[in-house]
Amino acid sequence: MEKYIVKGGNPLKGRVPISGAKNAALGILAAAVMTDEPVTIENVPLVRDTDVIIQAVKSVGAGVTFKEKNVLEIDGSTITSIDIQYDQVKRIRASYYLIGALLGKYKEAKVALPGGCDIGSRPIDMHIKGFTALGADVDIMPGGIVWARAKKLTGAHIYFDMVSVGATINLMMAACMAEGETILENAAKEPHIVDVANFLNAMGAKIKGAGTDVIRIKGVNKLHAVTYPIIPDQIEAGTFMVAAAITGGDVTVCDVIPKHLESISAKLVEMGCEVEEGDDSVRVISKGRLQSTNIKTLPYPGFPTDMQPQFAAALAVAEGMSIVTEGVFDNRFRYVDEMFRMGAKGNLEGNTFYIKGVEKLMGAELCAPDLRAGAALVLAALAAEGFSEIEDIHLIQRGYEDFDGKIRSLGGHIQIITNEHDAQKFKLKVG
Ligand code: UD1
Repeated sequence: MEKYIVKGGNPLKGRVPISGAKNAALGILAAAVMTDEPVTIENVPLVRDTDVIIQAVKSVGAGVTFKEKNVLEIDGSTITSIDIQYDQVKRIRASYYLIGALLGKYKEAKVALPGGCDIGSRPIDMHIKGFTALGADVDIMPGGIVWARAKKLTGAHIYFDMVSVGATINLMMAACMAEGETILENAAKEPHIVDVANFLNAMGAKIKGAGTDVIRIKGVNKLHAVTYPIIPDQIEAGTFMVAAAITGGDVTVCDVIPKHLESISAKLVEMGCEVEEGDDSVRVISKGRLQSTNIKTLPYPGFPTDMQPQFAAALAVAEGMSIVTEGVFDNRFRYVDEMFRMGAKGNLEGNTFYIKGVEKLMGAELCAPDLRAGAALVLAALAAEGFSEIEDIHLIQRGYEDFDGKIRSLGGHIQIITNEHDAQKFKLKVG
């Protein structure tokens, strides 16, 4: 079993390239099968979640070829089935995008119900309500398979009860091949919603308003070939920005869109860091001990829930009391007990974590509870005194390409180990 071993205490310094956005890639890789012409997708992040979608798309017969390391060609013309089996997708929730994509193109999809991070109850009722409004019959079959089918899809006026990234993307995909106009109200506005819409439009879809809360989609009969680069990952960039802050370092995240990082930059400035924005880079320079602040996660352009655990790690060593409130998911604090074992102080009440900053965290044996919480524990370990070992790193690898390699390139001490011998070797090497 692979683990990370980390020795804390080294400030991270240097420039780090940011990969393509995982959450945009999941939508785009699914949407790519909606045309029978070959689609080339650039800047695909090589992470476990994208691999799951790639395997799922292959399993129904699509052609998938890596042209270069992060460049993928998908050929939807060879698809022979609309049936995505549980084994293919059980590990990720975003497999539900294959419902929207296959239903849009073939008017039928059978996709196993999603898995993904255990961060609270994550129903897909709004996705189903939306498909039904477009004229599909949707049943949950034995074995947890969602079966959606329609004679034809017809544009509809859909109002989402809650802002949902997944439901917005899924309905955009299905509606772009429905007859007539669909209006999505109370849509999510995250950067990856805009990226998936831009991708679909580049294939010939007619989507307007992505990035606002009303999206209008005029259905088309056919989509066509395109070459498309995925936007940089807001959350990977944010994680390295916090890595600079928590370790007292100086890190420039490169190949990013600074506008997508504004809420993260603003918090780091409040916490006492200097943040310099370039055209496609952001530099975070630590200026001594971090200061406390309060955070409440909200849908974009609010503070991202996917950055909540990483900031909590930084606030655990900030001066003073901080309050972190989770406003999107109902179980996103499963890292708190792990941080307490590193010497963090505070208390958790419902969806609010009251943090009393300490001067130093101590290395410990840790277990990653989910993707972002796992990354937060790595950051805490990089700032802590002594060695930490972190288990269940496959969860972290769901969303970070070469996480340990990038940290090492900034001077952090981290290694993947599989046994005690590796651990001893690492300890001898880094002292
Ligand atoms: C996406 C992101 C995830 C991020 C989240 C919020 C992907 C692959 N994942 O997840 O990294 O943390 O957005 O920014 O892009 N809800 C319902 N019914 C539904 C759909 C959602 O009640 O049909 C609820 C969820 O339980 C949750 C809230 O709405 O409480 C937001 O969920 P949603 O925006 O859909 O998140 P995901 O698309 O799963």
